[in-house]
Amino acid sequence: MQKKSTFTGQLGFVFAAAGSAVGVGNLWRFPYLAAKDGGGVFLLIYLVLIVTVGFALLTTDIAIGRRTGKSAIHAYESMNKKWKFLGVITFFVPVLIMTYYAVIGGWILKYIVLFLTGGTQAAAQDNCFTNFIASPRSVWYGLTFMMLTALIVYKGVEKGIERVSKTVMPLLLILVIGIACYSLTLKNSADDGTIRTGLQGLRVYLTPDWSGMTVSRFLQITLDAMSQLFFSLSVSMGIMITYGSYVKRDVNLGKSISLIEIMDTGVALLAGAMIIPAVFVFFGVDGMSAGPGLMFISLPKVFDCMGAAGRIIGLLFFVLAAFAALTSCISVLESITANCMEIFHTERKKTTGVLTILYLIATAVIALGYSIFYVEVMLPNGSTGQLLDIMDYISNSFMMPFIALLSSVFVGWIIKPSWITEEMERGGTKFRRKQLYIVMIKYILPIIMLILFFQSTGILNHL
Ligand code: PHE
Repeated sequence: MQKKSTFTGQLGFVFAAAGSAVGVGNLWRFPYLAAKDGGGVFLLIYLVLIVTVGFALLTTDIAIGRRTGKSAIHAYESMNKKWKFLGVITFFVPVLIMTYYAVIGGWILKYIVLFLTGGTQAAAQDNCFTNFIASPRSVWYGLTFMMLTALIVYKGVEKGIERVSKTVMPLLLILVIGIACYSLTLKNSADDGTIRTGLQGLRVYLTPDWSGMTVSRFLQITLDAMSQLFFSLSVSMGIMITYGSYVKRDVNLGKSISLIEIMDTGVALLAGAMIIPAVFVFFGVDGMSAGPGLMFISLPKVFDCMGAAGRIIGLLFFVLAAFAALTSCISVLESITANCMEIFHTERKKTTGVLTILYLIATAVIALGYSIFYVEVMLPNGSTGQLLDIMDYISNSFMMPFIALLSSVFVGWIIKPSWITEEMERGGTKFRRKQLYIVMIKYILPIIMLILFFQSTGILNHL
């Protein structure tokens, strides 16, 4: 058997894992949830959750990966034969996510091209985004993004994934800090003469808005924060198990996990500080209720209002988003590849080749879900969706809480938390949040995940 590939050291692992975690979720979903959910209230809840729930889930995945040295299916099987099914379910999350992630990457590529060629007006036009996705030609952008991802995974763990992450992540951090600083310097006088500044926007973002807070609204915000956390940390989908299996035995896992949490949350907070003040300056508080359309519809309008600088800032923003999406997309494909290599005993190049063909087809189908294959399906949360939303709902809202529930019961009560804490303490390393981990995995996570799971099925809405 060939020697298993690994990351060269802690830095390579942390950048690759943070690259997976930092994605469009940080840049687009986090800011719009914060805007919707009372600014600072959402931030406070999110921060508490990340160092408790997020930490426990991330630790579980990474420790399972390193201790077993395998990807989800074989990892769970080697821990307990009867629990192989959990590995199989986990494997299907990236399988589903991969069908649409490159489509979103393609949308970002399109905006890079728009800013390069057409200036800010083209991207700011009212129906720019909807017209684009409704055109079958949009497929080419998704396919390009898919090919790019496949090429990197084809090159392997060290030469492909680690090398790209180590280059792209520092650039991404510089860009997000730079654009956030620029946002704070913005100033604009509205039609009615009121002057709004970036710093006022920052205050709107950070100050907790407790007005009209009720128990049910608080719960709703907590649930929003929780599902964001899953998506953002890329946990409970086997990706971190695969990446964990590439970590050398002498790397300090506890420290790496803290760094990943800090990077993921840091980029999300900075993305909010970059987007919310900019939208506030040009469109006021009302502009922030744009919801999911924030990234592709409202932001281009904001860039258009910035004048000449808008074209550069807009271009930089979408380049940043493309980097974030690429390192995430790589991790999804890598996790599928690693599982397939273990199941079929095939080598990397052949496995990636076959998967690439399959996913080029899937990407095309999902991208055409807004034109040729257009459907409208009612989802359990009450919204209607197209193919992409259906895949997203099944994988993120439905399967992930279910997997987290099962894996916390499995680790907390069947194989016992010590199985994980031993791995965290390998070589005499101190596991600083050990007690917190044990309480979270045994008691708190199962309860929270049960609630989230019921919410995703729509049952809670009827209570
Ligand atoms: N964590 C990524 C983000 O925040 C999203 C992602 C989901 C990445 C699933 C990989 C797999 O955008």
